[in-house]
Amino acid sequence: MTAQQTKLQDLPTDLKRELLPQHVAVIMDGNGRWAKRQGLPRIMGHKRGVDALKDLLRCCQDWGIQALTAYAFSTENWKRPQEEVDFLMTLFQRVLRQELREMVEENVQIKFVGNLQALPRSLQQEISRSMEETKDNRGIRFSVATNYGGRQEILQACQAIAKQVQQGLLQPDEINEQVFESHLYTAGITDPDLLIRTSGEMRLSNFLLWQMAYGEIYITDALWPDFDRAEFHRALCAYQQRERRFGKV
Ligand code: FPP
Repeated sequence: MTAQQTKLQDLPTDLKRELLPQHVAVIMDGNGRWAKRQGLPRIMGHKRGVDALKDLLRCCQDWGIQALTAYAFSTENWKRPQEEVDFLMTLFQRVLRQELREMVEENVQIKFVGNLQALPRSLQQEISRSMEETKDNRGIRFSVATNYGGRQEILQACQAIAKQVQQGLLQPDEINEQVFESHLYTAGITDPDLLIRTSGEMRLSNFLLWQMAYGEIYITDALWPDFDRAEFHRALCAYQQRERRFGKV
């Protein structure tokens, strides 16, 4: 291993380990624009986007961040051209198949969050297999939001709770934040401390609406395929400058 590689793996010296976010979430925006700028079809942007995500996962492992959540496909993304949707579904499946062995070896625990029943059956099978094979891993918790929508997540939690009330299993005044969270797709995953969105857009786009109540947001103009360790380092520096008050003075 070269000195340069050793350096890359280490936490940059200007970052304080005790102030690192435990959980980072990313909205991986700008794949299409990246491809257009290179004179390539949009799907090539998604392919390069996978490489950027793999690098970020590795970087989080190297630097001691405990959880990473990536917005891979929203409930609104079905409205894209059919061939792009098909490409993405095939890409998710292929990447999962290719990367599963390594994730098992590297102690990654992968979880998919979203309405998974609406995904192609072959992808659902790959998803189940990856979650099953990594469920006992205790390294980084990697969540992939697929067919995910924050409002839909909240609605389905309300429906599940209403059913419990109807069946007499729960009293209305027993519904508190803990009960509610236990019905979200992200049950058992701590809320993100930092959400990074690439390509300069300043929106949540229906991502983790409940979970981001107190999370810090960082926006960069970089397009997702260009989001590298240097960009992540900048995001973490900005995060460490923030004063998190959680409503207190
Ligand atoms: C947004 O860019 C990106 C997506 C909708 C897809 C993101 C998916 C990946 C990077 C693949 C992840 C793979 C796995 C297995 C988790 P855009 O197309 O909206 O870009 P634009 O705004 O420039 O058009």
